[in-house]
Amino acid sequence: TVLVVDFGAQYAQLIARRVREARVYSEIVPSSMPVAEMLAKRPRAIILSGGPSSVYAPGAPGLDRSIFEAGVPVFGMCYGFQLMATTLGGTVDNSGAREYGRTALDVSKPGSTLFEGTPAQQSVWMSHGDACSAAPDGFTVTASTDVVPVAAFEDDEKRLYGVQYHPEVLHTTHGQQILEHFLYRGAGIQPSWTTSNVVDEQIAAIRAQVGDRRAICGLSGGVDSAVAAALVQRAIGDRLTCVYVDHGLMRKGETEQVEKDFVAATGVRLKVVDASERFLTALAGVSDPEQKRKTIGREFIRVFEQAQAEIVAEAPGDQPVEFLVQGTLYPDVVESGGGTGTANIKSHHNVGGLPEDLEFALVEPLRKLFKDEVRMVGQELGLPDEIVQRQPFPGPGLGIRIVGEVTKERLDLLREADAIAREELTAAGLDRDIWQCPVVLLADVRSVGVQGDGRTYGHPVVLRPVSSEDAMTADWSRLPYDVLARISTRITNEVAEVNRVVLDVTSKPPGTIEWE
Ligand code: XMP
Repeated sequence: TVLVVDFGAQYAQLIARRVREARVYSEIVPSSMPVAEMLAKRPRAIILSGGPSSVYAPGAPGLDRSIFEAGVPVFGMCYGFQLMATTLGGTVDNSGAREYGRTALDVSKPGSTLFEGTPAQQSVWMSHGDACSAAPDGFTVTASTDVVPVAAFEDDEKRLYGVQYHPEVLHTTHGQQILEHFLYRGAGIQPSWTTSNVVDEQIAAIRAQVGDRRAICGLSGGVDSAVAAALVQRAIGDRLTCVYVDHGLMRKGETEQVEKDFVAATGVRLKVVDASERFLTALAGVSDPEQKRKTIGREFIRVFEQAQAEIVAEAPGDQPVEFLVQGTLYPDVVESGGGTGTANIKSHHNVGGLPEDLEFALVEPLRKLFKDEVRMVGQELGLPDEIVQRQPFPGPGLGIRIVGEVTKERLDLLREADAIAREELTAAGLDRDIWQCPVVLLADVRSVGVQGDGRTYGHPVVLRPVSSEDAMTADWSRLPYDVLARISTRITNEVAEVNRVVLDVTSKPPGTIEWE
């Protein structure tokens, strides 16, 4: 394991991902963890992340010096670099020498462990106020910038390395190469971590946890719950039952896809519950977004509990159903561990994400993985691309893509419009370029149009194509005009009641991806 010590901001997750891209397993630990505890994990190497503080700010997170004396290779980045410098006797001063954004780096020791084989001048991403003016004793300065005399250093004997910039961001042109140099050359780690290791490891762990008892899993049709279910099914076979609650808020073809493709690929025992009437009744008269989300969440749990009781009743003699499979991912785990009280923007309702007071023990085979790794595990398990490469779709489904009350008629309209948009995006080969493209029905808005020779007075739909790396931030996708034109023409021709198609050109922030 390579430990990534988190000094705040979002850098640690990105670093952990890049380490895994180098096929080395990594885990994130908070900087508040005592060094003895970090070392007890027997890391092969340690990376100190960047962070928002100045090393001289009161209360700035520090690290015990022993981390540099344990013989474990350490790589400090940005804040981690400055911390390494000050702790080991170098000089960092607040000279007003700030650098933000893309910066030219001059490599003065091209043969060094980190920089070998990379150009003498390279573009790096900087974000700092303080600057290192003298490296600690025993260190060689390996790079500088116009502003910062010590932008990188290393002590090859003690296997300590540092750079002032952020190698983990894509703007740093040779960032991944430098990280790999640290891992392979500096720390001597072999790149051997693969998703097939994960599959074997997880199957063994699930068998050990579940024993000869039974488990259930809520399937949403999304990637995470599907891959989690497939893994558990591999481990315990028919003792897993998947429950798919059709709340009637699914897109066209979605339920059929779960019923056919997923079962065909895995042979999983599947219970499909058609609860659309129940959800529609509960949603009648509800147009407030938060109330919609809560209503859908509440109904979902009730239906799920009922399904669970039925499963037990169908085979009462079998072992008890004690386990609930969840598709929790590593970012969720890290974020809930971080617990710095982020504002509740929306009550996310992850179908399959049930409250723990359901009295189940949880099986979470993906809790160490990032999304792209989950996709690789899915591929490894033989799930079809239609499932593994699916774009995200919110648990509350089309219910939160109708601005206004949710009714059967409106759902049918939106389903048609959405299917057309997806079809055209797929036909244009754009699925992998965009994160997702919600289609939103403005059900309480009408506008005047003309069609044939007649006046129409219909509803607009909004196209919301976005690109994103993790949905935390997003930009609107610059889709080709001819694709937008085809979608617009087809929707207004084929979906009666919709006479206008508009494009959402808002990034996130300030807009969220979904409209509700
Ligand atoms: P927002 O709208 O918050 O969405 O920018 C970020 C990402 O999360 C998805 N999303 C949800 N996913 N349950 C989910 O499982 C939810 O309640 C939910 N709300 C939003 C959204 O589609 C986007 O990918």
